[in-house]
Amino acid sequence: MNFQNYKVLVAGSTSGIGLAIAKMFIEHGATVIGLGRNFERTKELGKQYIPCKCDVTDADQITATVEFVKKTFDNKLDVFVDSAGLGVKQPVDDVPVERFDLAINLLLRHHILFTSQLVDALRSCDSKDPVVVHISSAASRSIESDNILYGLCKTACNLYAKQLAKGLHGVRSFTISPGTIATPIFDRDKNAHRTPEQIQAMFDQLSKAIPCQRVADPSEVADLVEFLCSPDASYMTGTDCLIDGGIMTQF
Ligand SMILES: NC(=O)c1ccc[n+]([C@@H]2O[C@H](COP(=O)([O-])OP(=O)(O)OC[C@H]3O[C@@H](n4cnc5c(N)ncnc54)[C@H](OP(=O)(O)O)[C@@H]3O)[C@@H](O)[C@H]2O)c1
Repeated sequence: MNFQNYKVLVAGSTSGIGLAIAKMFIEHGATVIGLGRNFERTKELGKQYIPCKCDVTDADQITATVEFVKKTFDNKLDVFVDSAGLGVKQPVDDVPVERFDLAINLLLRHHILFTSQLVDALRSCDSKDPVVVHISSAASRSIESDNILYGLCKTACNLYAKQLAKGLHGVRSFTISPGTIATPIFDRDKNAHRTPEQIQAMFDQLSKAIPCQRVADPSEVADLVEFLCSPDASYMTGTDCLIDGGIMTQF
């Protein structure tokens, strides 16, 4: 797809799935404002990538970032992808209030705060086909009693994308629910540091249960975003798109 002249905002653009999505848009001609906190991995993206530091758990920083995006893009935005997140594992019988707040802020609240403040820019875009994509998770469709906050927030995110599709005629809205994608997310939990060998062993073990027999590369999620933002998907909105190698057939 040719995304020449597209103005794109990607939250969580500095790593994993969001980085692959930013790269895909840039390779197809778009200009991307990329949000994150650590820009080590974005150096290869060149001049079409505009880095913008933002902690998405901070509502004031979100408002300031939206202002920056509107000013930089002349109040026009073709695509917003929100891929910022982290695994927040929590069992059903142990829910400290700080973990609850972290989950809500990092896995749900920014999706809503950003999108609601970007509506006028999305409606003003030159492509006339604005698209919002929230990266959810296959965990939104399964019952994991040791992962309740993550699952709850991702399920709410799926519902929010449908509410958006219904409430914002003219803006197409999706969630993407990935299964296991090989990204740095598996090494982010400093309380459970895993070596690269341990992560590979975990992927090998998981692959045995996945019908496609492997974990996925983040570029495969970016390919799905490319499709959703293309005219080929122009009759799709309000949908949660599962990309899981078939793992959810077990549930
Ligand atoms: N990988 C998987 O198997 C998988 C499966 C299902 C769903 N997901 C979902 O996919 C999304 C992306 O995950 P990933 O695998 O690409 O993880 P990742 O490689 O760890 O990337 C996470 C991104 O989120 C950003 N981020 C985290 N906390 C932030 C904060 N407080 N403020 C601003 N940015 C923040 C990170 O930015 P900085 O590093 O710059 O802070 C980074 O760009 C997440 O929502 C995750 O739940 C992933």
